[in-house]
Amino acid sequence: MRACTLAELPEDEGLRLSTVPVTSVFATESGIFCIDDTCTHDTSSLADGWIEGCVVECVLHMARFDLRTGDVVSPPARRPVSTHPVACVDGVVLVALPAAYLVKEQSP
Ligand code: FES
Repeated sequence: MRACTLAELPEDEGLRLSTVPVTSVFATESGIFCIDDTCTHDTSSLADGWIEGCVVECVLHMARFDLRTGDVVSPPARRPVSTHPVACVDGVVLVALPAAYLVKEQSP
């Protein structure tokens, strides 16, 4: 699905996509990454988290996840978040989500 344009990606947080489950796209110096948005510790949105390198830190209890793999870098989360392939074509960010994911709306 079309996620956004490169210009629409915030520099210091993620961009939540209108999918079920909710996913988010993050721009880092190492590339663009898409993960499931909900922290596996509770229900906080990781798009609101702080990005450092390829790691996002949840704003609620500061669990940290590797954006490249979804793995937990530091607790209190214990389960990884799902990651999804990303491609960038002519300034448009495309993400490949599992067939079971619903797209509620798409950007024009
Ligand atoms: S909800 Fe993310 S660390 Fe608790």
